[in-house]
Amino acid sequence: MKKKNLYFLLIILLIINVSCKENSQNNLGKNTTNSIDSKVAELLSKMTLEEKIGQMNQYNGFWDVTGPKPSDGDAAKKYEHLKKGYVGSMLNVRGVKEVRAVQKIAVEETRLGIPLIIGFDVIHGYETLSPIPLAEAASWDLEAIKKSAQVAAKEAAAAGINWTFAPMVDISRDARWGRVMEGAGEDPYLGSKIATARVKGFQGDDLSSPETIAACAKHWAGYGFAEAGRDYNTVDVGTSTLNNIVFPPFKAAAEAGVKTFMNSFNELNGIPATGNSYLQRDILKDKWNYDGFVVSDWGSMNEMIAHGYAKDKKQAAELSIIAGSDMDMESYAYVDELANLVREGKVKESLIDDAVKRILKVKFELGLFDDPYKYCNEAIEKEVTGSQEIQEAVLDMAKKSIVLLKNENNLLPLKKEGQRIALIGALASDKNSPLGSWRIAAKDSTAVSVLEGLQKYSGNTITYSKGADLTLGKTEFAIELQINTTDKSGFTEAIQTAKNADVVVMVLGEHGFHTGEARSRADLGLPGVQQDLLEAIYKVNKNIVLVLNNGRPLTITWADAHVPAIVEAWQLGTQSGHAIAQVLYGDYNPSGKLPMTFPRSVGQIPIYYNYKNTGRPVLPAPNEVFWSHFTDESNTPLYPFGYGLSYTSFMYSNLIVNKVSEENVDVTFTLKNTGKVTGKEVVQLYIRDVLANVTRPVKELKGFEIVELKPNQEKTIHFNLTKDALGFFDNAGEFVLEPGEFKVFVGGSSQTVLESGFVMEAKNE
Ligand code: NOJ
Repeated sequence: MKKKNLYFLLIILLIINVSCKENSQNNLGKNTTNSIDSKVAELLSKMTLEEKIGQMNQYNGFWDVTGPKPSDGDAAKKYEHLKKGYVGSMLNVRGVKEVRAVQKIAVEETRLGIPLIIGFDVIHGYETLSPIPLAEAASWDLEAIKKSAQVAAKEAAAAGINWTFAPMVDISRDARWGRVMEGAGEDPYLGSKIATARVKGFQGDDLSSPETIAACAKHWAGYGFAEAGRDYNTVDVGTSTLNNIVFPPFKAAAEAGVKTFMNSFNELNGIPATGNSYLQRDILKDKWNYDGFVVSDWGSMNEMIAHGYAKDKKQAAELSIIAGSDMDMESYAYVDELANLVREGKVKESLIDDAVKRILKVKFELGLFDDPYKYCNEAIEKEVTGSQEIQEAVLDMAKKSIVLLKNENNLLPLKKEGQRIALIGALASDKNSPLGSWRIAAKDSTAVSVLEGLQKYSGNTITYSKGADLTLGKTEFAIELQINTTDKSGFTEAIQTAKNADVVVMVLGEHGFHTGEARSRADLGLPGVQQDLLEAIYKVNKNIVLVLNNGRPLTITWADAHVPAIVEAWQLGTQSGHAIAQVLYGDYNPSGKLPMTFPRSVGQIPIYYNYKNTGRPVLPAPNEVFWSHFTDESNTPLYPFGYGLSYTSFMYSNLIVNKVSEENVDVTFTLKNTGKVTGKEVVQLYIRDVLANVTRPVKELKGFEIVELKPNQEKTIHFNLTKDALGFFDNAGEFVLEPGEFKVFVGGSSQTVLESGFVMEAKNE
């Protein structure tokens, strides 16, 4: 903790000790048996305008910072506001001691004693980290993903947190955008299922349990469609994409009962999301009848000035509240301006009341009025943090997240004995990078490295040689990462090590802080001198297993053409090295499938499996130019959505499509394990609506299942397609099911292996 921060903590603790007074009204929850709504109404009726607006104000804590740095004077102002009850929530206050300190001010020093809701970015774990969300999505394992969110909630709740700013449910088709690491990839169906799993994992069945926390679906909306993948950039998305691709995971999160939404930094079709009534009022609160609250993103109200949408902070506050933003994160817009706007008649007090009701409701549901310190128990914090249960869950998740991209000549799995293994790459021994990007509460360098993992699981001789540094100087959440682009002085030693080895394991890719917020990249190759290192090693030993650590699809076209084995291991969190070693040695048979398309080159982006056919989809005659293509690149991806290999092989056969009735179609097929070891396959079902009033994609995922089979074992798989799967949103935003021809595809990736179809008859009116 920095000196200045320590100073603020001391001041807070000191003042609490001298001035804590009994507050007769801080047990509002206990005295009444009414429903939460009437408790909220009762409390609201006692509040002054300023106290109400206070509930809509969220401040960053005095310690960690996850946005542009606040100015020095802000700390004193925040503290004053806390004491007056002008703060409803804080973020980045963590650990029982710190949370108790600020909660005590809210509960014991303010007139009404309304507890704070404490938010934090528990994105892929709290102190113990699970794989980055994109990696988790690669498991397609909804139970494991739910469990991962559940243990993250438990560990965070034990440290005083009661609200996570997760899940991020933004669909993105652009790997240049650094935040693809934080989502579930490119597909709205998979994204919706994962959104539901994460919400249920964080919130559980009982929000008032001290082991569950409120979740937040973010960023509403369109943030993943930033132009050129440059973070915070302009978003201009058509109606059909908005309704069918962007919205569904948010809808799924809302239906799963997510307690909050966060709006986004971007403008959407000319209107910044924070001031966007269409998004927040028309769709979310009116059409979907959503009764949780919407928090702004960090400073996004004020950013409407730079967008050219609000002339000053006051107008930003006015536009935000009218548009339906309920809580202001770090703009100081509501706390400074809203009361005057109400007095001047520019903002109706009923809008404030509605926002406050939503916020108080969540606080009641969390049980904060019954016991504001329910998340503040040092003994529990000690017992839960890093517990066995959590370590096991994140290890399980990490193994399931790994995707085998290539395995020529069965180079993998590696033998456990008698092999000389050269381990090369700065990331191979890195204990910090696997923790990923959102890991503020984690202790630095606490991940298991690949080196440690390989040593633990075998008796092989492992010789490590870094080859080259990946980064230079400090690697931190809030500062730009410096990549080594020149120093190759370690190459000679690495080449020598590789020459003397039976197999070379190279761990290459992106540092954990090379992806995430504000980490857009224009080049998606291996950063720095890693490509040169790979090629130099390849010259002396071709037996290479390339283990990728990265937070987004990369253009590893050269590696795919040359290297015999490639394992996509993302940033896997605390247990990273154990999971990778278990897969490399075959103790765990990988079953992950890519949740996002890997392009061959950046020029193909946006590239995604559920594209539209266009009017000129195929080469009409040899050498003719008039079709939709590149003159210098293929249209196909390097690895398609849904792709991933196993140490065994699977065969699909007997696809039968049977119409049970209109709007209800049965699909069955047989899956057989044709290899030598037990393995899991993520079977995938896609459809195509061939003709529609709004054109439909060439394929759309509509079902998947993880099937485990022993060698030679086979199983009949069933899927049922109903209206939800067969219909789509038209350009008026209405869900429609149009009769006509449908194709059905199944396989182990979006490049499916079996195809059939059916015709849906028009209904007689
Ligand atoms: C900005 C990010 O966009 C958002 O996702 C995050 O929750 C907040 N900062 C708080 O850290």
